[in-house]
Amino acid sequence: MSAEKIHTEFAKRFGMGGTLFQAPGRINLIGEHTDYNQSWVLPASINRYISAEIKPNNTQTIRAYSIDFDEEVQLNLHDLPKKNHWSNYILGVAAEMQRAGYSIPGFDCVISGDIPQGAGLSSSAALEAVIAVGLNDLLQLHIPREKLAQICQSAEHNYAGVPCGIMDQFASLMGKENQAIQLDCRTLTYTYFPIPEGARWLLLHSGVKHKLADSEYGKRRNECEQGVEVLNAQFPEIKSLRDASLQQLHAVKVKLTDTVFNRCKYVIEENERVALFCQALQQNDFETAGKLLNQTHAGLSELYEVSCEELNFLVRIAMETRHVYGARLMGGGFGGCTLNLLKEDFSEKQLHEIQQRFENTFGYKPLVIDVKTGKGASVKD
Ligand code: GLA
Repeated sequence: MSAEKIHTEFAKRFGMGGTLFQAPGRINLIGEHTDYNQSWVLPASINRYISAEIKPNNTQTIRAYSIDFDEEVQLNLHDLPKKNHWSNYILGVAAEMQRAGYSIPGFDCVISGDIPQGAGLSSSAALEAVIAVGLNDLLQLHIPREKLAQICQSAEHNYAGVPCGIMDQFASLMGKENQAIQLDCRTLTYTYFPIPEGARWLLLHSGVKHKLADSEYGKRRNECEQGVEVLNAQFPEIKSLRDASLQQLHAVKVKLTDTVFNRCKYVIEENERVALFCQALQQNDFETAGKLLNQTHAGLSELYEVSCEELNFLVRIAMETRHVYGARLMGGGFGGCTLNLLKEDFSEKQLHEIQQRFENTFGYKPLVIDVKTGKGASVKD
């Protein structure tokens, strides 16, 4: 979506004088479903964005127009969220900023974006982040970005009803080109992690939009908490799955349902994989990095049960080409994309083979989502 189009639409509806901001979606290299378990993740912001032209309007009303949904809404900070509506993210951020003690006046905004929805690339976090950064800048609130990420996360919890971790909002607000963010979700300390130039990545969209995801996501989070409660009773130092070892988990196995045991096992193993994966990438050891991605997929599919037939098929046939180091579903799961780490000799031929085999089984082609890393939320230049 071009800046001109947004600007023209803004001028037509709300007059002149708005400022254009943008916030990116994200990929995540490894560390899935670990963020709300207070552990590590490795996301990177991408060059697909939600853009918003914003201007305070000296009233108590928020007027928001979405070009992509061709819909204008009027909101005020005391409104309750509407079921599954795009405006919840805007209302949520403004209301959560206010709740955090900042005075938020009404504003006008026009939004549009090119992050595919339901692909696991965090278009909703990008919408939250663009509003947060815009209001922070225009109202000169000077809220640090880490705090903005928490405000956006609260908006997602309380206005979109998804009890998400902090990864997506943090990545959208803190991302940098060519870097992943090695983020400790307990302390919110982080380092930028250079993505090796030699690594080739491919995102393939299963075509399945994660619909069931929200309630299932909450269930997974809850099952992890049940596990922590039992672990904590025996090992008081365990405050989250980040603190637990497999040995400790086995020690309380009889007190857990199989499901809770499996969920915890996946998370504890994934925590270890993040560190090993970072080490492997630092040494340009793509062979090992690929194996870890495959292990993550197996865990997400068999233990955490957030995969689906289409994603499993995509991972399996990618590996069968023998030109891929590793592949896994990316993001919350139940649909969306696979992330593939490609060997040097992966070519169009293998891509067509994967697409053709998928189409033969499911009747449509999985699309390539072509992304690079991109910069974090900012004024659009
Ligand atoms: C979604 C959530 C994130 C994270 C991932 C899974 O994207 O918004 O907080 O939990 O799923 O890693």
